[in-house]
Amino acid sequence: MCGIVGYNGNRNAAEILLEGLSKLEYRGYDSAGLAVRNGTSDVEVVKAKGRLRVLAEKTNDGKALKGNCGIGHTRWATHGEPSEKNAHPHISDDRNVVGVHNGIIENYQELKEKLLRHQYTFYSNTDTEVAIKLIDYYMKKYQEGPIDSIARAMTRIKGSYALAVMFKEYPEEIYVARKDSPMVIGTKGEETFLASDVPAILKYTRNVYYIGNQQIARLGKGSAEFYDIDREPVELESTEVTWDAEAAEKGGFEHFMIKEIHEQPKAVRDTIASVVKEDSIDLSEAGLSDELLAGVHSVVIVACGSAYHVGLAGQYVMESLAGIPVRVELASEFRYRDPLLDPKDLVIVISQSGETADSLAALRLAKERGIMTLGIVNVVGSSIAREADRTFYTLAGPEIAVATTKAYSAQLIAVYVLAIQLAKVRGKIDAETYRSLIDELQTLPKKMDRVLEDKERIQWFAAKYSNAKDMFFIGRGIDYAISMEGSLKMKEISYVHSEAYAAGELKHGTISLVEDGTLVVGVCTQSRLYEKTLSNMAEVKSRGAYLMGLTSYGNYAIEDTADFTVYIPRTSEYFATSLAIIPLQLLGYYLSVARGLNVDKPRNLAKSVTVE
Ligand code: F6R
Repeated sequence: MCGIVGYNGNRNAAEILLEGLSKLEYRGYDSAGLAVRNGTSDVEVVKAKGRLRVLAEKTNDGKALKGNCGIGHTRWATHGEPSEKNAHPHISDDRNVVGVHNGIIENYQELKEKLLRHQYTFYSNTDTEVAIKLIDYYMKKYQEGPIDSIARAMTRIKGSYALAVMFKEYPEEIYVARKDSPMVIGTKGEETFLASDVPAILKYTRNVYYIGNQQIARLGKGSAEFYDIDREPVELESTEVTWDAEAAEKGGFEHFMIKEIHEQPKAVRDTIASVVKEDSIDLSEAGLSDELLAGVHSVVIVACGSAYHVGLAGQYVMESLAGIPVRVELASEFRYRDPLLDPKDLVIVISQSGETADSLAALRLAKERGIMTLGIVNVVGSSIAREADRTFYTLAGPEIAVATTKAYSAQLIAVYVLAIQLAKVRGKIDAETYRSLIDELQTLPKKMDRVLEDKERIQWFAAKYSNAKDMFFIGRGIDYAISMEGSLKMKEISYVHSEAYAAGELKHGTISLVEDGTLVVGVCTQSRLYEKTLSNMAEVKSRGAYLMGLTSYGNYAIEDTADFTVYIPRTSEYFATSLAIIPLQLLGYYLSVARGLNVDKPRNLAKSVTVE
């Protein structure tokens, strides 16, 4: 949600900022802007509505802006419509303070009124302009420097923010502050870089600092000093980023999404390899000993979007395999009610980014109640990874496409592994079953490769139905969880109205929407439920639906009902989601391509939802 970059060194800042912003466009893309200063001269601010290329054209790819110190921003609008006026950077009335912001300032109206009473005027509808002017206000009121003024503003601001700010009197420095929104700082030689996410600066440095929550940083040329909100210096250790810059490039694929779909076997293989040691599961790196798992009475999984769908699939697997009660909750709901939690619960928060505002708030709520928390997180050093009592890292590598694919697949592995280990420590499976489940898990990457080999058929089908208006995905049990993720993929990138339904529930109202030509995908990977779902498919077919079936090789009877069938290799039915989701991701992807849409950056969405 909004991307921030900054550069302080000896090169032309604007070119580096634009390059960095291009790596962050997945975070927001309705407008963009730069602020650059050259030594002691006044700051130059350039903004443009629309994609980053409009800003690049306006500044001749940054060459038209001279200066070695600057900040940039790509926006996903929260307060104020997308426009040049509302684009960041925002600047104080006398150009003393200029800054960019990611997040939401909840009490901005109250702060704005305070500033209006002190003769400040406002040109935009953004909460960011209020934050920048508040810092300016404190600087003038107390005649203090940047760290003090930012700290004072931070104590007044409610909400989440990552701020990068420059001051007229400190032309060779950038200041950064953060609360519940991500920010990473990198140094190399005489240069300092900052960004909302690592890919934006990876080309320049691998030596990064993850600035802590409610901390402030002063960034010189090649230096970074950190302070807490009480303005006391704090020491931060730098971290070496180990993944390859290429991992964040398209590598010959047309879109990040299709590249990431193809990276799923690797994401799954790597995640399995990180926890399967010598034929058994070892969760010690995540801090989960067998004794600790044995003490868990029930599991509460909390997440948003696709990560929530992982939780739903995980619920079926954990309950059935480990015989443990599992509740799955949307983080945005969980955080605002008074959830019943038991001291012996394990709260699992699943998040690719580790920064999703609602998931983070849910984690904090569980911690406040003294419940043990586990984060299943992809982004190293993210807020959820740091704040959870225990963290299980998925090894999907950087995920750039807004629609998640490989992180989702890696998260599934994490929940399977937990389910198997819980089953073992609770005595629900014998040694042989334990071993065979691990063996089967390890066959998944190869089987995923096999599903990917079949992609042309799905491409053909997607092209044929590219003008579909309504779609339904139906299934029972785990197949319902798969349907929910398939349906989300379809609507978010192809803009086709789509709904997932528990197949047995259709008759209770929704079937009235089915008419001639309505596209229905029936997911049938569970042998116990296969016949039941087939009957539901037959019911919609007799009302005019066009049917795509999705099942395992061998279940050929489905062809009597479905008009078009996709098969996946056989695996343990607990793990079917990992294979069945791929054709549905491909369906969403190819339909979006056939409709000429922006697959990697669908409208109105942003990768990491750091506002609630
Ligand atoms: C959908 C998608 C989103 C995310 C959700 C949670 O393709 O990517 O639904 O799954 O916003 O994000 P994280 O996992 O970063 O917490």
